[in-house]
Amino acid sequence: MKMIGIIASPRKEGNTAWIVNKILEGAKEQGAETESWYFSDLDINPCRGCWGCHKSDQGCVIKDDMQKLNEAMDRANAIIFGSPIYLTQMSAQAKTIIDRMFARFSPRYSPYFKEESTAEKKLILTFNQGNPDSGLFQPYIDYTRHMFELLEFTVQEVPVVTGMRNGPAHEQKDLHTSLKAIGSSAVNDFN
Ligand SMILES: Cc1cc2nc3c(=O)[nH]c(=O)nc-3n(C[C@H](O)[C@H](O)[C@H](O)COP(=O)(O)O)c2cc1C
Repeated sequence: MKMIGIIASPRKEGNTAWIVNKILEGAKEQGAETESWYFSDLDINPCRGCWGCHKSDQGCVIKDDMQKLNEAMDRANAIIFGSPIYLTQMSAQAKTIIDRMFARFSPRYSPYFKEESTAEKKLILTFNQGNPDSGLFQPYIDYTRHMFELLEFTVQEVPVVTGMRNGPAHEQKDLHTSLKAIGSSAVNDFN
């Protein structure tokens, strides 16, 4: 089984990276092949809204690292998508990646989307935030889960890590085991 992590934070050594990598660590211990993809290492540009991706079968007109990320997603059985909360929402880095997914997914409600079938993609969506109140952004998080479901991901779970204004995630000792357990049970569910 292959699991990739997408770290949609500008900070390569920040909380999002630590959280996504801890989930991957649990998966790796159960035999999964894992890879981490850092937005900060990639050249991924915003969607231009040109509809070029739906007017031809050449994919997105922007030729950048989104193609590499798409190929990695194609090879993966499961994806961990991590974003910090920025001003009550996902980061701009996360939204940039998601808008670029417009080129490749096919929610059934629109004839404009491609009908190509893709193998099921399991998704663990994870947010982290400074505020310690885990319910604070729940309506937004539920909404975002639904958005990923429209993009035809099978969203398995949505762990939200809180309280980073009091210190980095790795200082919360219970997270070391709970995040690894998410990764290992995703592998066990797959097998
Ligand atoms: C621009 C910006 C906006 C933020 N907005 C919020 C917010 O609305 N609510 C919150 O709880 N934390 C907010 N935070 C805190 C981050 O969510 C938190 O520090 C997160 O762990 C950062 O992830 P990173 O270490 O991967 O960068 C914000 C941080 C930044 C830099």
